[in-house]
Amino acid sequence: MTTELTLIGYGIEGAWNVPLLRDAAEMSGASLLFAQGEPPSGGTAEADGSSPQIDELWGRFDRVVACEAIPASRSVYEYPAPRGQLGVIVGNELAGIPRQMLKKADQVVSIPMFGKGMSSVNVAVAAAIVLYALQRDLGRKRLRTSALTHRDVDVLVLSPPDPNELGSLFRSAWAFGWQRVFLADPQGTWFSRDRSTVLAGRAAARREVNPLVIAPHDQLDLREYARIVLCDGRRQGTPVSRFSLPGRDKTLLVYGDGAWPCSVSAPVEQVFVDHAAAEVPACFRHAGSILLSVISQLLRRGRHG
Ligand SMILES: C[S@@+](CC[C@H](N)C(=O)[O-])C[C@H]1O[C@@H](n2cnc3c(N)ncnc32)[C@H](O)[C@@H]1O
Repeated sequence: MTTELTLIGYGIEGAWNVPLLRDAAEMSGASLLFAQGEPPSGGTAEADGSSPQIDELWGRFDRVVACEAIPASRSVYEYPAPRGQLGVIVGNELAGIPRQMLKKADQVVSIPMFGKGMSSVNVAVAAAIVLYALQRDLGRKRLRTSALTHRDVDVLVLSPPDPNELGSLFRSAWAFGWQRVFLADPQGTWFSRDRSTVLAGRAAARREVNPLVIAPHDQLDLREYARIVLCDGRRQGTPVSRFSLPGRDKTLLVYGDGAWPCSVSAPVEQVFVDHAAAEVPACFRHAGSILLSVISQLLRRGRHG
């Protein structure tokens, strides 16, 4: 028996989240529905236009998992995916999932977060990571732990396409334990003089609670790295769900599909985010956040300091 996933957006308000949630669901071959209240514009509830309420919703699934980072949550990386019809709820951008729903859920799962002061990641990013982990059943397979810490694995982001996507990825980077990220930004997506670009990126990054250092790529000394791991959107190399970081080599993780800002001498190892629906292109924030979340799980003491 397989796991059939349905993503349920509960009380989602922001219309901009609809295509992002759709991408999160489609990537992992999950269905998508919106529950409670009006679905945000662009979202579909049911064929008759109604939006299912809690009790009705529960009757449709063998199990219901609620995604929320609360003390009682179980890490999604330690939760074997139940077989059958599985409903996966994500909640409102501000209020989260109501307490009575968390109580009613068969399991509350969280994506482990290590960044001080950051209580959540973007709702669609959370959905993409949880669905990926459940679809790949990472809770049953278990990831292999490395001897490396966050300090041994630097991150370089290449040519981000859009300030919202980039900001959201920076929110994830801090949440998943990095204190600094290098950026090659030829299109001025972050290092920009355009006010609306700057505001969009900072808002998506939650800059008011996110002290992640964003360093220009020319501060990077590539001679420091014995290993370079590249994730550039091509489905080539090692799938992230089977990736490991053996040894103690200082590592540079490069994410993004763009020209390298400098030449490299160390061997480059390719990885890819192996979401189930290979034909569905993953949003920049989704693939990058899955990559960082999974790698943070491999690292020893995945915490700041
Ligand atoms: C932006 S969060 C809202 C969180 C709420 N403001 C709070 O801090 O309690 C929106 C939704 O994303 C999902 N989410 C965000 N970060 C998560 C995490 N680390 N683990 C599980 N779900 C998460 C949850 O479903 C949450 O309801």
